[in-house]
Amino acid sequence: FIHPVILCGGNGKRLWPRSLAARPKPFLPLVGDCTLFEQALDRCDNRDIYGAPVIVTGADHRPHVEDQAGHVADLRIIVEPDGRNTARAIALAAAMLPDDAIMLFCPSDHHVADAAAFTKAAQTAAALAARGHMVAFGINAETPNTGFGYIRRGDPIENVGPGGATGYRVTQFVEKPDLATAQQFLEDGSYSWNWGIFAFQAGALLHELETHLPEMARLVKEAVAQGEQDRSCFYPAAEHFRQIEGESLDYAVMENAKTAAMVPVDMGWSDIGNWSALHNARGKDESSNSTLGKVELVECQNVAVETDGPRVSVVGLQNVVIVVDGDEVLVTSAAGAQFVGRLEGAINQ
Ligand code: GDD
Ligand code: MG
Repeated sequence: FIHPVILCGGNGKRLWPRSLAARPKPFLPLVGDCTLFEQALDRCDNRDIYGAPVIVTGADHRPHVEDQAGHVADLRIIVEPDGRNTARAIALAAAMLPDDAIMLFCPSDHHVADAAAFTKAAQTAAALAARGHMVAFGINAETPNTGFGYIRRGDPIENVGPGGATGYRVTQFVEKPDLATAQQFLEDGSYSWNWGIFAFQAGALLHELETHLPEMARLVKEAVAQGEQDRSCFYPAAEHFRQIEGESLDYAVMENAKTAAMVPVDMGWSDIGNWSALHNARGKDESSNSTLGKVELVECQNVAVETDGPRVSVVGLQNVVIVVDGDEVLVTSAAGAQFVGRLEGAINQ
């Protein structure tokens, strides 16, 4: 079995006004009718391949998880008292599983168009993880995006997993490089973007943490040993858990792992990092516009508009995003969409 561990945290500020701290990006139906979290759960619903899903989420977001995943009979929820990045959250899940369990770390903040390609890659990654590798998923880097991790492909590892797919050793993993470095990686041609999905044995992850972050490994074990189970929810002991520093898995483990490997996969992926990326993940008309709600466009090109109430009429604009949500209106250029998270007045009101 592959044990899916789905992480939901963070606040998705760049998708304001839809995404708010109280109801962040994973719990919104941004592409299609299902939320990104429901889609992450559905991708792992074949019980011939995947074991019971484990969800790691903050106390604030537990009601959303129960609401959207209530139909999954064997669901297990691990509730963090607060969010503090991915290393602590995934370490917690690892400490609760047997050492030889193959974990599939699934973020809940992205969209995957081709679920079959995802599962095939997950099976290849699981086969590599069973051999002791810390496995990332990658796709060729296309632009010098500084919001991603970069993976350098090394020697191939042939004939792994069902269908005899090829994986690669990883010779370098660099999380969120600066622009000049990202540009250099792009020109080099041997780098892939990191999807943010990983596979490893629970024991291998804990071993990496003991090597690179021993204090985190110790506190996580204490927090699990003294934690409390209440029906499907597990609560780690807060006195130990809250002492753990925030670190991402990418910096804490993947940049340092000696046994990192990579599975290349093209599955129509988008991290829906901002309104422009969301627009690109949605169906567009022949002028590259996408609309949701009462919207009328005339002579527009590459315009994204959505409204949950008032009619929005747009004439003669190009490369803009307009979002109406209750009392809030957002207007940004497509290029400016990445800076929406800086709207402190609106977001923190
Ligand atoms: N439970 C829990 N607790 N989940 C968390 C926490 C936390 O404290 N912090 C983040 N998460 C969840 C997020 O909801 C998301 O689903 C996932 O963990 C990844 O965290 P992000 O904060 O979104 O990471 P990122 O987007 O900056 O970077 C990662 O993803 C990129 C691809 O989208 C990295 O892995 C990059 O290397 C990668 O390219
Ligand atoms: Mg993300």
